[in-house]
Amino acid sequence: MFNIAIMGHGTVGSGVVEVLTKNHAGIAAKAANEINIKYILDIRDFPDLPYSDKFIKDFDIILNDPDVQVVVEVMGGLNPAYDFVKKCLLAGKSVVTSNKELVAAKGGELLEIAKENNLNFLFEASVGGGIPIIRPMSQCLAANEIIEILGILNGTTNFILTKMIDEGMSFDDALVLAKQLGYAEADPSADVEGKDACRKICILASLAFGRHVYPSQVATEGITKITSVDVAYAAAWGGVIKLIGKAVKLEDGKLDCCVAPMLVKNDNQLSSVTDVFNAIVVRGDATGDVMFYGKGAGKLPTASAVVADVIDCVKHVSARKYLFWDEGYTDYVIDSDQGEAAMYVRCKTADSAEAATVIRDTFGNVEFLFCKEAPAHEITFITPKGKISEINKKLKSLGALLEVIKTMRICE
Ligand code: HSE
Repeated sequence: MFNIAIMGHGTVGSGVVEVLTKNHAGIAAKAANEINIKYILDIRDFPDLPYSDKFIKDFDIILNDPDVQVVVEVMGGLNPAYDFVKKCLLAGKSVVTSNKELVAAKGGELLEIAKENNLNFLFEASVGGGIPIIRPMSQCLAANEIIEILGILNGTTNFILTKMIDEGMSFDDALVLAKQLGYAEADPSADVEGKDACRKICILASLAFGRHVYPSQVATEGITKITSVDVAYAAAWGGVIKLIGKAVKLEDGKLDCCVAPMLVKNDNQLSSVTDVFNAIVVRGDATGDVMFYGKGAGKLPTASAVVADVIDCVKHVSARKYLFWDEGYTDYVIDSDQGEAAMYVRCKTADSAEAATVIRDTFGNVEFLFCKEAPAHEITFITPKGKISEINKKLKSLGALLEVIKTMRICE
């Protein structure tokens, strides 16, 4: 019998109990041990559950129980999760978490403590919900130098954008629906402002490129300013708008890393990733593109990844896994305008004909976009690929003629 404790009984925590209970026999066979949930820590009362007797409110009970060798942290948020997880590791307990905020902010430090204590700190569920990505990236793709990671990393925003694109739904109505279905975070601003996707690209970039990337280093923009007119312009261009997280390794070892809504061509595989699905493309020097696809949010898909990590911990209780990355440094991630992209530029202008001429003279080969939803006095175009700071400089030089409403990168 192998005792575990679960900290948090929200959407993911209750899903973990459900999966462990429903698939008990199969999990025991795979772990080569019976897994027993000894405690569930939560400040709330759950008096009517078949397992109500397992609930505790005092974290120290878990910390001081030597019978508990693996602790599952599914509370979310940085505090008190960070304190609890650190104490568990220092007390010799392996930890499994789905908490991307924790891993993105403190993963390097917690992995170091786990290493020093020959323990596991596993977080498969922190990125992509039920999609296997952390383990495949660190093990199956280990022979590669990873060049780039890019993907749709947030189910809620992908769901909202899909409803806006396919059903003409308003942003607000789609967000309400996402909340009802349990996809959105408790504070949906983490989803719609791109912070959740930012945490996930930080975790993937840290793992792929070997140094901690902190959320504060990654320029992050959400989808709250995307309108049906942008959606229509994207369609006229032959694509869709997706919230993309990307991290590219540059020749000098630094990273170009950002989260932003981008235009994705219809022939790009990421364009057909809809609803709550996530997809992550990992570009390796030996494999080329490998794409991971699946449900990136939701109770049972996320719980499935947590339980798989628990099984791994039980099987490898005295053998540490090899997840690890080093500390980052201040300018490890370049300023986002130092990266390169072709850009979607939407402007207001009093004189479209003159603006078109000057835009061509300034940028060269641009593609102008037209759609029936476009308000009067707008001119919208796609620039050639270039350094974003240079594109911005050129746009500034046209300030007398153009008022820029919005720019977005084109996803390659
Ligand atoms: N709110 C997150 C999402 C949940 O929508 O992707 C999974 O991390």
